[in-house]
Amino acid sequence: MKEPILAPSLLASDHAELGQAAAAVAAAGPSWLHLDIMDGHFVPNLSFGPETLAALRRHGSKLFFDTHLMISEPHRYIGAFAKAGADRITIHVEPPVNHLAIFGAIRSHGCRAGLALNPGTPVEAVEPFLGEVDLVLVMTVQPGFGGQAFREDTLPKIAQVDRWRSERGLELRIEVDGGIDLATGALCRARGADTFVAGTSFFKAADKSAFAAAFAAL
Ligand code: DX5
Ligand code: ZN
Repeated sequence: MKEPILAPSLLASDHAELGQAAAAVAAAGPSWLHLDIMDGHFVPNLSFGPETLAALRRHGSKLFFDTHLMISEPHRYIGAFAKAGADRITIHVEPPVNHLAIFGAIRSHGCRAGLALNPGTPVEAVEPFLGEVDLVLVMTVQPGFGGQAFREDTLPKIAQVDRWRSERGLELRIEVDGGIDLATGALCRARGADTFVAGTSFFKAADKSAFAAAFAAL
């Protein structure tokens, strides 16, 4: 099993203080920061764009920017997010785009590529792309908003991606996102997840270092 990585989601922080929130993540121990990008079309909400990542870099953040594009036309923005400081760019399997070409573009910008799927999307949809990415993001809520309840019906999908990973000897991280706290994180860990996005639970934690340490021991 790969060592657990906690990726706190900036979406759940106070947006008047994004720089301080990123600094608080680093101070608590995690080396990843999850950035949720929403276009009001693929999901019914808006969040932030490349300029926010660039500003966080200017503010001194050295965190690994785990950038989750919940947008209908990801191909239009790969260059902008890479230039702004994204380390990983994860796109969704659902939009009818040329996924292979987009993974190539992500890599050509020196970033790592990930693939996400919604709770309603059969896990088989990601299967053809497993050799093209090094992270599969299994959404454990319908994307669009933080603070939703974890969906246990997504657990079998984590287990299936884990099976494909071991059968094929793939270098793949399995990330989960939505309603993740220590209890739901442990359920996902038991199915093979190793990368945990936590928005509300991280930013609500009174002792963020202790929270991060507990995840590191999952
Ligand atoms: C959901 C986003 C998540 C969200 C998670 O649309 O992709 O990353 O910020 O938030 P919590 O942890 O509050 O469910
Ligand atoms: Zn996300």
